[in-house]
Amino acid sequence: MRFLITAGPTREPIDPVRYISNRSSGKMGYAIAEAALAERHDVTLISGPVTLEPPRNAKLISVSTNDEMFEAVHRHADKCNICVLCAAVADYKPAHVSSTKIKKHGAKFSLELIPTRDILDSLGRRQDRQFVLVGFAAETDHVEENAAKKLRAKNCDIIVANDVSGADSGIESDMNEVIILFRDGEKTKISRALKKNIARDLVKIFLDFATKTFDKKNVMIN
Ligand code: CTP
Repeated sequence: MRFLITAGPTREPIDPVRYISNRSSGKMGYAIAEAALAERHDVTLISGPVTLEPPRNAKLISVSTNDEMFEAVHRHADKCNICVLCAAVADYKPAHVSSTKIKKHGAKFSLELIPTRDILDSLGRRQDRQFVLVGFAAETDHVEENAAKKLRAKNCDIIVANDVSGADSGIESDMNEVIILFRDGEKTKISRALKKNIARDLVKIFLDFATKTFDKKNVMIN
């Protein structure tokens, strides 16, 4: 099967030396890419700026901003069978990007932010999509409830929810613990483990779901 995976944060520039971003390390997305490659699947990895070694044998597309990730995902989505959007995409960006370094003035300073495009939502809205769509949900509270809302709102097939409230799991950590919600209301849990091990289980789960979906639709995978 052909996987498209997004990973890491995006960076939204403020001026030539500053940006808005988040703490995503890219570890979960890269681990999923490695796990899929280990099972001899084809992987296109669209990555925001991270410090990880790129997986050998993946087609790596490095991006920085939400707009760049949006364009790259839409350019490659139709060539894949399973699209896993693991990236922590910035939800807002500065309304204006200064071409010169913004100087300090001592007084209060506010930055006007405008919403970025939601990549997962834009794929979920596509009536013609042939690929299985997997989203992630990073939550600090009401994890399952909020993730279930995202699954419906963004019209995904599967959403992987993780609790990012603690320092020892989720963001930046090597460990994670996830709940996987399916569009038919089924759910399954993977207890706390190394992201590498979680990734192996997730790849199996995605493949199993994709195989059943494609069998039902009589789609041949080559
Ligand atoms: N996502 C995306 N484009 C965005 C924001 C999020 O594609 N502009 C995707 C993420 O890659 C993830 C899913 O949407 O697969 C959920 O992301 P998350 O940050 O948990 O939620 P948000 O939709 O940003 O909502 P909120 O920040 O309110 O929780």
